[in-house]
Amino acid sequence: GPRVLSGIQPTADSFHLGNYLGALRSWVRMQADHDAFYCVVDLHAITVAQDPALLRERTRVSAAQLLALGIDPDASTLFVQSHVPEHAQLSWVLECLAGFGEAGRMTQFKDKSARQDADHISVGLFTYPVLQAADILLYQANQVPVGEDQRQHLELTRNLAQRFNSRYGDTFTVPSAHIPKEAAKIQDLQDPSAKMSKSQPSGVVDLLEDPKRSAKKIRSAVTDNEREIRYDPEQKAGVSNLLAIHSALTGRTIDELVAEFDGSGYGDLKKAVGEAFVEFAVPFQEKVHGYLADPAELDKVLARGAEHAREVATETLRVTYERVGFLPPL
Ligand code: TYM
Repeated sequence: GPRVLSGIQPTADSFHLGNYLGALRSWVRMQADHDAFYCVVDLHAITVAQDPALLRERTRVSAAQLLALGIDPDASTLFVQSHVPEHAQLSWVLECLAGFGEAGRMTQFKDKSARQDADHISVGLFTYPVLQAADILLYQANQVPVGEDQRQHLELTRNLAQRFNSRYGDTFTVPSAHIPKEAAKIQDLQDPSAKMSKSQPSGVVDLLEDPKRSAKKIRSAVTDNEREIRYDPEQKAGVSNLLAIHSALTGRTIDELVAEFDGSGYGDLKKAVGEAFVEFAVPFQEKVHGYLADPAELDKVLARGAEHAREVATETLRVTYERVGFLPPL
């Protein structure tokens, strides 16, 4: 089947509901009929300072969560980015193709760097999206399942692929973003005008936190002063976010849910979303703990993944180096 690649950063103690519904659910779905490559992007993680022991631990916990969500290492190639050195190698070539201004227009970089003075922002944070392009192009991916916030990085990836191809001859597949319709942007429960993100902890639901705590957070989600339950992300961001979460967790359509909750109060909707989350989280957490109980086996799964990933990655890098004009070593 067609190739898929995606990645996730090991920068928190747990993935959150936005990661799951916006991206990871598609990862699991797509492995059935695609040649899928999924990586834990530890090289991306160090674009901001990380504690080394914690980074190592979070990389394992990330892999355990992916397995618990249903990533099957026999159906997909699951690996850690730093185990495949070709990512960093291709990234350098693409950095030399990307414009300084082009990279400077990335809104995630602008947002993140606006919060800090220039000497506290790493050069790596600036080149972050180019490394992401390398991740994708190295595997000749056709599809990249991500949330809405990655759209611009995918556009950059396409531009770099096309630029390389027109300068050096056809080398890279030009990938498309695969962004879900309704769960593409899960909003913060306390501030439904903002995306759910680890930098805003109060309205975030972590997959590994106590599910009772999550249900409570969902019950206290900010909505609006009306009483009507309808899907309208512009006018009713909080209610629409709850409907999107419910729909994504249960597989029922938004229309079905709106019909079911016709005449009910917001409290009923919140309670139902909380219950749907608990139903997902309890068995999920059990599975994660099962995988973490055997870290040697987990590391073996990741080693197998990296070995397979390298077979593809070394070939793409070889061709790239040749096209660029590097003298091949004897
Ligand atoms: P990361 O680790 O920040 O996020 C992982 C995935 O979760 C999605 N996401 C969301 N989706 C919906 N609603 C939200 N509130 C929400 N928050 C996060 C993100 O869109 C992402 O798909 N740059 C990537 C990591 C990366 C990557 C790649 C992705 C590195 N290399 C190659 C694809 C292909 C990122 O920020 O992930």
